[in-house]
Amino acid sequence: MNAAPARWDAHRKSVERALREALDGSGADNRVVQAMQYSLTAGGKRVRPILLLLAHEAAGGRADGAAQAAAALEMIHTYSLIHDDLPCMDDDDLRRGRATCHVAFGEAAALLAGDALLTHAFALLAEAPGVDPAVRCRMIATLVGAIGYDGMIGGQMLDLDAEQKDGLSIAELQTIHERKTGAFLEAAPALGAMAAGATDEVVAGFREYGRKIGLAFQIADDLLDVTGTAEDAGKRVGKDAARGKATYPGLLGIDQSRARAQELVEDAIRALPCDTADGDLAVLARYIVERIH
Ligand code: IPE
Ligand code: IPE
Ligand code: MG
Ligand code: MG
Ligand code: MG
Repeated sequence: MNAAPARWDAHRKSVERALREALDGSGADNRVVQAMQYSLTAGGKRVRPILLLLAHEAAGGRADGAAQAAAALEMIHTYSLIHDDLPCMDDDDLRRGRATCHVAFGEAAALLAGDALLTHAFALLAEAPGVDPAVRCRMIATLVGAIGYDGMIGGQMLDLDAEQKDGLSIAELQTIHERKTGAFLEAAPALGAMAAGATDEVVAGFREYGRKIGLAFQIADDLLDVTGTAEDAGKRVGKDAARGKATYPGLLGIDQSRARAQELVEDAIRALPCDTADGDLAVLARYIVERIH
């Protein structure tokens, strides 16, 4: 499975290092820790932490000064995937090219591994070195808004409820996608800018960029389920239609969905407060819709 472009290797490496340090051998004889490690080390594009680090850098943050905060985002994302794959949710058996966590460790361990990743992420944020303590509190509150009942968790509920509904409108679908996936991706660059001590205005610009790429990201994910392969994606494809999921290609067709995602990406790039049209955040935005995994 390909990773994100090599251009972000240094950021990816600092996230991987921070993840290793965060679970530094402690409790390794406990099955929940083994399950956490299994899913965290399975790969993954690391888009959310890289977004945080690129925005941190663009907003003038010190190199490597936000690696621990970035690792916290990857823990939260990994928790969301473990739970998303459970039999009571999307019931998937392949993730990041491996058996899903519950297939490898059982449902109870997978549920607990997700809980533990979510919980531990907040300790990493609360103690993030290189970030002003008052800013850490603001970052935590922002993140809770993005991933809680009003964001990702609420969106996951709407996504499951929509499996039982016919005739969903595009506005309803957009809301599901903005909440289940977009809200977290919207927060990632905003958190990076906050960690760098950026002004509210600059943070808002990064948030707007994140909001647009967040929706584009889930449209691209929906498209991959129709046009991609399990080998490239590291997860099963063709499952959304089979489960009756509400998706962009399902509602708008492939071409219109692609056009919508591309339009969002160009809007996102225009919203960037301090990066150029060919800077790293612009390249990342375009990668989000062009990726094959
Ligand atoms: C998959 O996220 C779940 C969605 C929100 C669509 P990613 O596509 O970022 O998955 P990994 O981290 O690369 O495995
Ligand atoms: C997942 O969306 C969103 C979250 C994990 C919050 P999907 O269910 O479409 O993600 P995949 O396709 O399983 O990765
Ligand atoms: Mg899902
Ligand atoms: Mg899923
Ligand atoms: Mg999907």
